[in-house]
Amino acid sequence: MGKVLLFTDPGIDDSMAIMFALLHPDVELVGVVSGYGNVEQEQATDNVVYLLRLAGRDDIPVFAGAKFPLSGELVSYYPEIHGEEGLGPIEVPVEIEEELLNFTDLFDLIEEHGNDLTIIDVGRLTSLAMAFILGGEEIMNQVNGIFLMGGAFLVPGNVTPLAEANFHGDPIAANLIMERAENVAIVPLNVTEYAIVTDEMINEVTSQEFNAFTPLIEPIYEFYSEAYGRLVPGINGAPFHDVVTITAYTNPANFTFIEKPVSVSVEPETRGQSISDFRPEKAEDFEEEVGQDHWLAMDFNYSEFAREFTETMTTRSGEVENE
Ligand code: BDR
Ligand code: CA
Repeated sequence: MGKVLLFTDPGIDDSMAIMFALLHPDVELVGVVSGYGNVEQEQATDNVVYLLRLAGRDDIPVFAGAKFPLSGELVSYYPEIHGEEGLGPIEVPVEIEEELLNFTDLFDLIEEHGNDLTIIDVGRLTSLAMAFILGGEEIMNQVNGIFLMGGAFLVPGNVTPLAEANFHGDPIAANLIMERAENVAIVPLNVTEYAIVTDEMINEVTSQEFNAFTPLIEPIYEFYSEAYGRLVPGINGAPFHDVVTITAYTNPANFTFIEKPVSVSVEPETRGQSISDFRPEKAEDFEEEVGQDHWLAMDFNYSEFAREFTETMTTRSGEVENE
């Protein structure tokens, strides 16, 4: 079982990723950082705490992450895809008033677990970039590695023709991570758009009350898949970007990774575009410019993803107790 520190902005696919991580036998969630992104940071925090409480896991520390991007710009949220409060039609019965842990307490967690810890970031990269800014590379690069959901390589973006939402939301932060973080594996839209959870899979994982999350799954899925149905008419289901990103950690053999240097555009016209050089012979100059390689997940085995999703979400967890 590997220790994971999750950065997230729930959000429906983020919420499913949190449930998946809590239920997965190979993941030991040791902390969650909740930042702005799909919803405001305060709402994201309430949603994280709600899911942890449902699982009877309020022992897991929650760190309040960033409220807006490094540039200081105003943020656009996506209620039409994730719902007003980030969980589709669910009114989240949690409003955090007590003090959360200080953001910088993260560094104690990182020092404590060091190389046993993996960071997975499925949101805008602002909070992770802040951790590098405040803590420095020496502390942050003690971790085993970083998996992140972001980018779109040689394929269209989802918020603009060129850019994917997490990189577009804070391209300065995304680029900082590309430059400063070691051992980064990126799971871009090339894979995540195809990580489709279907009606049939949802029927299976809700056919019995397997765990405390089962009652949430259908309403949030319905909301999200209807939203995707409007974006992609005829689609059966919806892509769960953030869940497949967790599986890149739990089941890396299910992915085809290539090693390439990546940078993220901070220019207004191409904001958030993930850039690499796919020419076979000319990529060396680009590598010098970026300074290091990253791992890019370019393909995966869908059936294996579907199996892992269904098996994990039907876990009858002794640890997950109803409130
Ligand atoms: C990413 O953007 C968010 O809206 C999703 O939660 C996912 O992390 C997909 O582009
Ligand atoms: Ca997300």
